[in-house]
Amino acid sequence: MKKTFLILSGLLLCGSTWAAGTSGDADMNRFIDSLMSRMTFSEKIGQLNLPGAGDITTGQAKNSDIAGQIRQGNVGGLFNIKGVEKIRDVQRIAVEESRLGIPLIFGMDVIHGYETTFPIPLGLAATWDMEAIERASRIAAVEASAAGICWTFSPMVDIARDPRWGRVSEGIGEDPFLGSAIARAFVYGYQGRDPKHFADDEIMGCVKHYALYGAAEAGRDYNTVDMSRQRMYNEYFPPYKAAVEAGVGSVMASFNEVDGVPATANKWLMTDVLRDQWGFGGFVVTDYTGIMEMTAHGIGDLQEVSARALKAGIDMDMVSEGFLTTLEESLASKKVDVEEIDRACRRVLEAKYKLGLFEDPYRYCDPQRAKERIFTEEHRNEARRIAAESFVLLKNDNDLLPLRRKGTIGVVGPLAMSRENMPGTWSVATDLQKPRTLVEGLQKAVGKKARILYARGSNITHNEELEKNCTMFGRDIPRDGRSDREMLDEALQIAAQSDVVIAALGETSEMSGESSSRSQIAIPDAQQELLQALVATGKPIVLVLFTGRPLTLEWENEHVPSILNVWFAGTEAAEAIVDVLFGDVNPSGKLPVTFPRNEGQIPLFYNHKNTGRPLLGDRFEKFRSNYLDVPNTPVYAFGYGLSYTQFEYGDVRLSAGEMTPEGSITATVRLTNTGKREGTEVVQLYIRDVVGSTTRPVQELKGFQRVTLKAGESRDVQFTIDASLLKFYNYDLEYVCEPGEFEVMIGGASNAVHKAAFSLK
Ligand code: BGC
Repeated sequence: MKKTFLILSGLLLCGSTWAAGTSGDADMNRFIDSLMSRMTFSEKIGQLNLPGAGDITTGQAKNSDIAGQIRQGNVGGLFNIKGVEKIRDVQRIAVEESRLGIPLIFGMDVIHGYETTFPIPLGLAATWDMEAIERASRIAAVEASAAGICWTFSPMVDIARDPRWGRVSEGIGEDPFLGSAIARAFVYGYQGRDPKHFADDEIMGCVKHYALYGAAEAGRDYNTVDMSRQRMYNEYFPPYKAAVEAGVGSVMASFNEVDGVPATANKWLMTDVLRDQWGFGGFVVTDYTGIMEMTAHGIGDLQEVSARALKAGIDMDMVSEGFLTTLEESLASKKVDVEEIDRACRRVLEAKYKLGLFEDPYRYCDPQRAKERIFTEEHRNEARRIAAESFVLLKNDNDLLPLRRKGTIGVVGPLAMSRENMPGTWSVATDLQKPRTLVEGLQKAVGKKARILYARGSNITHNEELEKNCTMFGRDIPRDGRSDREMLDEALQIAAQSDVVIAALGETSEMSGESSSRSQIAIPDAQQELLQALVATGKPIVLVLFTGRPLTLEWENEHVPSILNVWFAGTEAAEAIVDVLFGDVNPSGKLPVTFPRNEGQIPLFYNHKNTGRPLLGDRFEKFRSNYLDVPNTPVYAFGYGLSYTQFEYGDVRLSAGEMTPEGSITATVRLTNTGKREGTEVVQLYIRDVVGSTTRPVQELKGFQRVTLKAGESRDVQFTIDASLLKFYNYDLEYVCEPGEFEVMIGGASNAVHKAAFSLK
């Protein structure tokens, strides 16, 4: 067994390394007891401080203000510094120049990959492939940990039913069951299966934003949230809880309020639910300036809100420096007590211990590893495969896709020629010059077999203000100085010469993500006009749609023959898009969110309640729950997505008509690939609890399987249904299943299902 070698201010702390199990816990506790007995209050408070990295990001470690703070023992960790040498230098200051030599923890928003970037999380969710998501997170961990990062602010598992909210792109979509599976896959990918011991190529996850951040009123970022406890427990909490159960090492508090108290100061949320009900044992960090913002929320000055955050159960203060600057005073005036500071400090030190930082503070800073393990061919191949899996074929009239590598292919649209736009929001560590543009990807794929013509066609939008507002992080697409008419004429000329036109349109990557709410979620105006003009030419048009959120696509669905939704698919996006366009990969993605017809329908989600006046058909009916001017249905339902082949579902067969809470039944459906090529279908199981003590959703996802069938092949697909799939939180928040009738629905989308029924005795 290796020995802990860290010298803490002259004292050699020698003990066996931490290992899973009680003796491991005992070793850790002994180590931390001993360390804490030597810490001053101010050093303890220093561990709770996670400042912005400031000058250190530019490599000026030694002379920066932060360096001084680190020497003083006022810093517990830093985040979003890229570069193994930079991180090493800063760690050296902490270890060699602070009194106790406590190593820093280095975090980063490694949200969908490090340098090898995978699809944005919403795209990953669209794969419905938990192995792929675990693999993507594993690769992210391997790369980040080789570059000095041992902590990632991911997964983001905020259920989001309002696509106006830009952060829909960073999450898992609208469904708690799918979201929970994804939360687990992310955590296992980052941390492995043993949350108490990290290998040197694993990193600690941080599930966020706890809680309910995705339910911001009006889809406006950072806005107020207010919801019933039933909804929290049944619909919004499950993915956070799943991450905790998978062993996630840390949790990030959300910006919003919950029940009138900001999450960051909400003791019920941070302690009663998170720790007492779910048994979370890691540490909780605020979001960026989360403590400071509580002064704007209006619940007190910095000292007051810092004390409230600590008492609620927050352990680390990101950027506000509220803990650093006020806790000593609060201790003196008995606003907080010693135990509360000790508790938070211990949790932060435990995380560092589990990460092995006391054993070797440079464990994640190996320049050789950084050279060998980042952006490797193997990782890029995986990213390409997973990117292609994330695409959702929304429409494909007359099998226009896949295309053949022949003739003349016109490519039109302002998104076809950008590399910076490909990876998607929060690609903090990505080299934005590395991705290919779509045009380059196409040219490479067709070689001399076909001719590729390109015209930009339009700017992103006529609205220059909007364009400026979402121009960030070097990911803007500069405006073209030509007039709209000139650009359009060029595009129409290209179209006239082409056998097929690929229109690469949609959002730029920074139109979704943080602080990117939109009140109108159509394809931006200038591009929509371009698309309409292209469609009017009568040429076959394939819309390659870039987006970080559901868009309103009613017109497009009616008029454009083929639509492939590619989200933002990471560094290998161009290659993956080309793989699918030419049919080297058969698309299999399914929507993890509903695509509404217009913004007025929002929030529109598949697992809604029935109401007392449900609409029975799909036409307007007076005195029913519907609109005068738009149907209740979406353009594309949750779970929807086409393939280049076709799948047929047989009837749902149940192994029994009744079951007991201790028993189970099997639901079977015959799936047949009736098309001409191999394909993968995501078979989805939904259940409806027909009568309950509280109202229940009209359907809830309760299982899914990716099934690959050759042309003409059939297979029985089975789901086991037991009480765990029937349970919900009742009015008193007890987790129960109630006797009565249940409907079982199986199909390839939430609105295309075959039904059967059973009763629970
Ligand atoms: C975001 C978080 C992110 C943090 C650190 C905040 O603005 O809300 O999701 O992890 O910044 O970069």
